[in-house]
Amino acid sequence: GFTDNTIIVVFGASGDLAKKKTYPALFGLYRNGYLPKDVHIIGYARTKMDEEEYHKRTTSYIKNPNNDPEVAAKIEEFKKLSSYVSGNYDDNPSFQNLARHMEAIEKGYKTRGVNRLFYLALPPSVFVPVAQHVKVCCYATNGTNRIIVEKPFGKDLQSCRELLSSLKQSWQEEETYRIDHYLGKEMVKNLLVLRFANVAMGAAWDKHSISSVQISFKEPFGTEGRGGYFDEFGIIRDILQNHLLQVLSILTMERPVSFASEDIRDEKVKVLRSIPPIKREDVLLGQYVGANGKPGYLDDDTVPKGSVCPTFAATTLWINNERWEGVPFILKAGKALNEAKVEIRVQFKDVTSGIFKDISRNELVIRIQPSEAVYLKLNTKTPGYAFRAIPTEMDLTYKRRFTDTNIPEAYEALILDAIKGDHSNFVRDDELDVAWKIFTPILHWIDGREGPRPKPSPYPYGSRGPKELDSFIEKLGYKRGTGEDYSWPTTNVS
Ligand code: BG6
Repeated sequence: GFTDNTIIVVFGASGDLAKKKTYPALFGLYRNGYLPKDVHIIGYARTKMDEEEYHKRTTSYIKNPNNDPEVAAKIEEFKKLSSYVSGNYDDNPSFQNLARHMEAIEKGYKTRGVNRLFYLALPPSVFVPVAQHVKVCCYATNGTNRIIVEKPFGKDLQSCRELLSSLKQSWQEEETYRIDHYLGKEMVKNLLVLRFANVAMGAAWDKHSISSVQISFKEPFGTEGRGGYFDEFGIIRDILQNHLLQVLSILTMERPVSFASEDIRDEKVKVLRSIPPIKREDVLLGQYVGANGKPGYLDDDTVPKGSVCPTFAATTLWINNERWEGVPFILKAGKALNEAKVEIRVQFKDVTSGIFKDISRNELVIRIQPSEAVYLKLNTKTPGYAFRAIPTEMDLTYKRRFTDTNIPEAYEALILDAIKGDHSNFVRDDELDVAWKIFTPILHWIDGREGPRPKPSPYPYGSRGPKELDSFIEKLGYKRGTGEDYSWPTTNVS
């Protein structure tokens, strides 16, 4: 097949991302039989270590909680198809050595043509030199070459453009795969099917029916240990500008001409171009403080004293097109909150007044994680003699409906796409450009480039966020359930 003769090189093989995400994903694909036949994985990093140490590190996050012998055997097989090369990130001899290592493996191929996939699990400071050296020393002339890169893609519009154009000096857009791992998540991919394969959904999908949309990301832990990185970026660059905006674009784009990757990405860019830069009054910032024995953001030794870096942000975006004019899209994300949850909450408008009093609005909730689900809150007659409406839900919880299905990890899905050459779930250059246009003005304000830096509102570790959050959302017309007290039945969540 066209993916035979594949070598995957993981740069930054001894780093955190490789250990926690890349290798476990490669193993998941291998275990389920999705890696190409005779694939070979090469780890590359500066650290000098022998193969045993390399294997120990790269398999340390691969889970086998019950010591299943079958999984253990697969791990041993997986180690056999992986080797390690150490070298620098900025000199030709190191990369020539890597090239020789690849060529030695490729000598054994029975068919012609090679596929080389270069995965840059690296900090931004070495992105560009590695990409350039790989191009000069390791680029296959008899096959395909692909490069996978990860955020951060700059810190604002200008630095992003600079980074992209440096990378473009050596790599074509068709060879480049920019990861936003939210695009690999099952429920994010499902948006295309939910929206475009259901007339019932499509019919109500606009400003006439929808009152507001919230896309929220909640994590129950702080930035412990990662404070140095985080403080330079903040929650908006870490989550909103990429992960949540990607979800927003798929949720709101027009129907693509086809599911070909460029057709999808064209539509995403179009809708993003209809979003003006976020205004200051549409922003709420927060920073967590110590509570219940948990440390505050500023208690982390890796965080600069007195930092005003936001660890929580809510922003309202407006889409200036016929479908969405006037509908607020609230993107909100926070660290050290009360729960782990990522969801999309679409709230519909009130029913025509007159016959019902105190009736709840419909809401469509797409829960991305944990426990993937789609549910629609709707009103029904109380069963029995009384004629009264009560809120209830139509519930598609994956665990219950698709009991035996294995949902792949985001990174598994994305690496497989890159091996196959499918760009649909990767971020195109122009997408990134408009994403930064939307966020750059408020980021410059928050960074203090236009005067004093805004102070984030404090919220206790483990809380729902800053106390201003409810009024921020309610002023946009969001209504909590009225009438009967509605709560998601806890027995539904397994
Ligand atoms: C990363 C952020 O991109 O996404 C992290 O840098 C965040 O801060 C992570 O924790 C969340 O990913 P997931 O898949 O756990 O929701």
